[in-house]
Amino acid sequence: MSVRYYLQVYGCQMNLYEADLVRAMLNQAGYEETDNEFDSEVLLMMTCSVRAHAENRALGRLAQFVGLKKKGQAQVVGVLGCMAQNLKEKLVEKHQADIVVGPDRYQLLPEFIVSCLRGDGPKIAVDFSNECYENILPEKKVGVTAFVTIMRGCSNFCSYCIVPYVKGPERSRPVESILKEVHHLAKMGVKEITLLGQNVLAYNHRGVDFCALLEKVCAFSEIRRVRFLTSHPRDLDERLVRTMASLPKVCPQLHLPLQSGANRILNLMNRGYTVEEYLSKVALVRKYLPEVSLTTDIIVAFPTETEEEFEATLTCLEGVRFDYAYMFRFSPRPGTRAAEIKPLVPLPVASERLSRLIATQNRITKELSSAMVGREYELLIEGKSPKGNGALGRTPQGKVVIVDQEVNNGNLIRVKITAISGWTPVGIPVDNPAFVGAACSLKINPVLQRGG
Ligand code: SAH
Ligand code: SF4
Ligand code: F3S
Repeated sequence: MSVRYYLQVYGCQMNLYEADLVRAMLNQAGYEETDNEFDSEVLLMMTCSVRAHAENRALGRLAQFVGLKKKGQAQVVGVLGCMAQNLKEKLVEKHQADIVVGPDRYQLLPEFIVSCLRGDGPKIAVDFSNECYENILPEKKVGVTAFVTIMRGCSNFCSYCIVPYVKGPERSRPVESILKEVHHLAKMGVKEITLLGQNVLAYNHRGVDFCALLEKVCAFSEIRRVRFLTSHPRDLDERLVRTMASLPKVCPQLHLPLQSGANRILNLMNRGYTVEEYLSKVALVRKYLPEVSLTTDIIVAFPTETEEEFEATLTCLEGVRFDYAYMFRFSPRPGTRAAEIKPLVPLPVASERLSRLIATQNRITKELSSAMVGREYELLIEGKSPKGNGALGRTPQGKVVIVDQEVNNGNLIRVKITAISGWTPVGIPVDNPAFVGAACSLKINPVLQRGG
């Protein structure tokens, strides 16, 4: 029987993608994935270091894995990805991992497992090699949508951020390798591609820039929609929004992290733009893409942030009216420049700021969702609705909509939004009159509730 491995994945979309790369390498080498951690020779985790919380969670899980090994239920415990790169041999010395493999060294994993099973002792590989894994097709569970990494690493060095240290310098994956993967996905039935990178707008491979890449990905007839993230506000220009507007398959959606609404803080963060510049980019985007959905990331309580500076962030949220925001309390990452900036904002103040920010954004998100009622959208059906026998799809803007009808995955249908259930808009198909009749039996509470 082949050796089985269990793989737990933490972190961002890029980690989901990298986990599929690791699966491809291990399966190719004859290992077999299992979803039962209690019955697996090899226990692996793909990890994240972006905030202390992410590391603590992974370390807690690692302790469980080591516990299983001590009970004889597993033989090898391995840590992969960003936290492996960040903590290196400490994971062996202090946390009893057998294998530590950074983001550029996954290809060593099959032989490391063999040598650990042989009893050769711990194995660590954490050097950077500008790896792009260009000859490996990730092992994907086939669905309607798929992520495709186009860039790895980051060279921006925002002062708070650990990513450049754990992922290495920014590099663009060769265009041929990207298109080969998109072709493969298209043949497997994928309809929507999301291009991934820490700053996709900086993509450039031998003169093919991001706009040119978008055009090439849109040229696959089976691919109906293309999204991308993340976009650095500094690199967003008129050419990009013009290109987006001219390519119907490119969805009107941008994730444009603002981080703070105060110029002094943006400067300390080394973000490379002012609030005014950011807002003028938002205006530019909305000029060419009036239906665009904008999402953002915000860090509250960056060291030395004053109440007024925090309020400037609130003002930006009210002014831009983002569809959604990912909001974080500053987490000092040892080794980054921001970890040296003092004084820290006291924890109770930081928590209170985060709560106010979340409350503000929740209200805006709900207001914008409510404004969808009565309007029509095209949905790409991605799966079944969580409750009942309906379907679930996304608008071009990326908003999840529930349909009280069975619709096959991968279908594009037009719906009219009739209500908001909890946080989620509910729609009825409008192309097919038979659908509309059936959908009248829908029981929807039109009152907005949290979490519904
Ligand atoms: N490349 C993307 C995001 C990478 S990390 C970008 O440039 O925006 C995702 C988000 O985590 C960041 O946008 C930031 O808001 C948050 N983040 C990163 N480091 C953090 C830290 N030390 N403390 C709190 N939040 C952090
Ligand atoms: Fe981190 Fe900044 Fe790079 Fe984003 S752009 S990954 S926030 S350093
Ligand atoms: Fe992603 Fe976390 Fe690494 S956000 S790049 S998995 S540090």
